[in-house]
Amino acid sequence: MNIAIIGTGYVGLVTGTGLSSFGLNITCVDIDKKKIDLLNGGKLPIYEPQLEDLVENNAKEGRLRFSSDVAGAIRKNDVIFIAVGTPPKEDGSTNLASIENVARTIGENLNAEKLIVNKSTVPVGTADYIKKIIERYSDKNYTVEVASNPEFLREGAAVRDFFHPDRIVLGTESEHALSILMDIYRPLYLLETPFIKTDVHTAELIKYAANCFLATKISFINEMANICDKTGANITDLSKALGLDGRIGKKFLHAGIGFGGSCFPKDVRSLVNQTEKLQYNFRIGKAVLDVNRKQIEIALNKIVAAFDGSLNDKTIALLGVSFKPETDDIRESPAIYLAKGLLENGAKIKMYDPKALENAKAELSSAKLSEDAYDAAKDADAIVLATEWNQFRHLDLSRLKTIMRGKLFFDFRNVYPKNKVAEAGLKYFAIGR
Ligand code: UDX
Repeated sequence: MNIAIIGTGYVGLVTGTGLSSFGLNITCVDIDKKKIDLLNGGKLPIYEPQLEDLVENNAKEGRLRFSSDVAGAIRKNDVIFIAVGTPPKEDGSTNLASIENVARTIGENLNAEKLIVNKSTVPVGTADYIKKIIERYSDKNYTVEVASNPEFLREGAAVRDFFHPDRIVLGTESEHALSILMDIYRPLYLLETPFIKTDVHTAELIKYAANCFLATKISFINEMANICDKTGANITDLSKALGLDGRIGKKFLHAGIGFGGSCFPKDVRSLVNQTEKLQYNFRIGKAVLDVNRKQIEIALNKIVAAFDGSLNDKTIALLGVSFKPETDDIRESPAIYLAKGLLENGAKIKMYDPKALENAKAELSSAKLSEDAYDAAKDADAIVLATEWNQFRHLDLSRLKTIMRGKLFFDFRNVYPKNKVAEAGLKYFAIGR
C-alpha cells in the first residue's frame, strides 16, 4: 500500500517511520523544504529517542521517503494521512489554517478515489469540514472519505508508544475505509492491541476526552499537594495510596508545577472553547486550567517567601527547562513560566537542561547558560529543580552545598527524600511534602 503522510512534525515523522517499519511504502511530505532537505541528508529536525536509527534503516531499505512535493504525493498515493499542526489561537480555539491548506491541495490534486485519514487533533466535526473543502476544490467526482485516527504519542516515548499503543481509535463512515485502516495497522492487531471502531465524531472527541482526563488527574493531584502543604500531610504517600485503588490507577498522579507541552494545555483550552460555542459550560476543563496556572504562582510564592519577600540580586540555579524530561520541547513549559516569574521578581537565573537549552535561550534571553547542574549551582543562592531529568535524580548534594552561595533547594518535582537533602546541609522545599 502506498501512503503519503502530510506534515512531517513529531506526529507525522513518528507515524510515517513507524508505518514504514510495518513494511508499508511511505512518503512523508512537508511544505518546509529545509526540514525535508535535513531528513534527506540523514538528519532529524527533532530529538526523539530511537527515532534516528529507525528513520535511517527504513530509508535505506527504500520504504521511507521524504519530499516537499505535496501535490505529487497526493496524486501518487492511495491513502493520505494528515498530520499537520493545529496550534491554539489567542482565544483557545484551534487554528485550522494548515488543515484547510492541506484539504485544498488534496482537492486540487484529486486524481482517483482516496482515503484521507486525519491524525491531527481537531475540533469535533473537522473531518466533515475537510471533506467539504476537498469537494469544493476538486473538479472531479471521485469519492473521498475522511476518517479520524487520533494520535496518542507522548513526546520522549513516541516510538515506543507507536509500536505498543494502549489502543488504536478508528473513526470511519464506511466498511471500506475501516478495512483499509485495519489492514494498515494489522501488525498491531496481531499483538492484540485493542481497536476502537467508531464513528468519526466520536473518534475526534476521544482524543480531547483522553487529554482532558489526564490533565484533570494532574490538576487534581496538584490541588491535593497544596492541601497537603496547608495541613502538613504528605503528597507522596497520599498519591501512592490513591493510585493503588484500581479504579483510580497509579499514573499521572505526580504532583509538581503543573502540566505543559504542546497537547494538554492546548487541548483542554480547545474543548472549553468548542463547548462554549455549543452553549455548554465545561466546568471541569476550566477548573483544570485554572489550577494549572495557579500552580506556577504557588511555586513562585514559595521561593519569594523563602527569601523574605525579595529576589533582588538573588541567583537561582534552574535545573530543567523542557516541559518534561527526555525532550528538547519547551512549549508551555512550566519551568519556563516559573523562570519568567523569577526574572520579573528581580532574580538572576543560571539554567541547565540536558537537551532544551538551545530552545530556552530565546525565551529567557537574560538567563545564563550552564554546562551542567554543578556549573549552574556554583555561587547560586538557591536551586530550583523544575524538570525531573534522570541526570538530576542523583546529584551530589554535599558538593552542591559546598559550591553554592546559599543553601535553598526547591525540589518542585518531588524527586528527593526530604531528609537526604537536609543531611547535606541544604534547606529543602517541595510540593505537598
Ligand atoms: C500528552 C499525552 O500523554 C499524549 O497521549 C498526547 O497525544 C499528547 O499529550 P505529552 O504532552 O508528550 O503527551 O506529555 P506527557 O508525558 O503526557 O506529560 C504532559 C505534562 O504533564 C508534562 O508537563 C508532565 O510534566 C506533566 N505531568 C505528567 C505531571 O505534572 N504529573 C504527572 O503525574 C504526569
